[in-house]
Amino acid sequence: MHVFVTGIAGFLGSHLADRLLALGHHVSGNDTLIGGYRDNVPAEARFFEVDCCDLPAMRRALAGAEVVVHAAAAAYEGLSVFSPTVVTRNNVQASVATFTAAINAGVRRVVYCSSMSRYGDNPVPFTEDMPTRPKDPYAISKVAAEELLRNLAAVHGLEHTIAIPHNIIGRRQKYDDPFRNVASIFANLMLQGRQPYIYGDGEQMRCFSPIDDVVDCLVKLTLDEGVDGLVVNVGPDEGFITINHLAELVAAAVGFEGLDPIRVPGRPCEVKHATCSAALARERLGYAPRVPLEEGLADIVRYIRARGPKPFEYHFPVEIVSERTPTTWKDELF
Ligand SMILES: NC(=O)c1ccc[n+]([C@@H]2O[C@H](COP(=O)([O-])OP(=O)(O)OC[C@H]3O[C@@H](n4cnc5c(N)ncnc54)[C@H](O)[C@@H]3O)[C@@H](O)[C@H]2O)c1
Repeated sequence: MHVFVTGIAGFLGSHLADRLLALGHHVSGNDTLIGGYRDNVPAEARFFEVDCCDLPAMRRALAGAEVVVHAAAAAYEGLSVFSPTVVTRNNVQASVATFTAAINAGVRRVVYCSSMSRYGDNPVPFTEDMPTRPKDPYAISKVAAEELLRNLAAVHGLEHTIAIPHNIIGRRQKYDDPFRNVASIFANLMLQGRQPYIYGDGEQMRCFSPIDDVVDCLVKLTLDEGVDGLVVNVGPDEGFITINHLAELVAAAVGFEGLDPIRVPGRPCEVKHATCSAALARERLGYAPRVPLEEGLADIVRYIRARGPKPFEYHFPVEIVSERTPTTWKDELF
């Protein structure tokens, strides 16, 4: 099978590409490197440094592909109320151009990576049959892309599946990005001998999903028959921890002594407690959380140690700077 992975230099896209190659498939992909690393792209994959928004270039890149996994996105939920333009451009325009090019290229199936943010303030745990209630530009953009895919797929006869991952962690995640990836940020700071920053009281509950638990589900959505139209949460329904506790676990993984996080005000729209049901993924995709969180964190620490901790890069502008903008971003505290 020839699978084209958008966002192949990103965290999820590169791991999926590796797994598909190991299974003997032909893999190609594109990325603009806004949120990924060039060396994440597997050497055996054909790489196009092409923006998903560039429809003619995407048409050319997709020639011969049978399945497209659309993992490219500006995956910046917290930042999205302050940089809505960059987020919606890379999530909505990029998605619609990718879907259009896929239809033009005669692709059979598109797998879209959505986000748990689609559920907004629904009661937890979120199940796939709940209405979407997006609460910020990132979530709105992910829901818009889902709707665009459903619509175009129905009209043009495209198979499609929608994966809803949440808080995946592990090696290859961009760790010098000040805008997202809390576990990698904590590890990069502590490996530089610096204290982590915590927004609000740190009692926000999260559930983290080591990458190796997620990839197999995406492979099934990419290759299996009988999944057309499936919308499925892909992530754990057990093992919740607070951000305060996460900081302690990262400190233990790094061997960081004297943990004393710097407290900064909470971010607008930040969800206090968001959890998904994994019942459907367990039933349809054989999903089970297998890798312990401590191992997922150790994976991040090994990766950053091997590449070297790095200063944070404020690699695109905060578009709306006001008294509500977190000081970590406004004053570039990381
Ligand atoms: N990692 C998670 O915890 C998580 C949770 C929920 C949803 N998701 C979704 O899964 C997908 C993959 O996330 P990830 O964690 O791998 O993020 P990532 O940032 O590591 O990877 C996304 C890649 O897309 C690329 N990209 C962005 N805009 C592009 C464009 N216009 N054209 C081409 N490339 C572009 C980025 O450079 C990056 O390499 C995203 O759709 C994200 O919204 C991820």
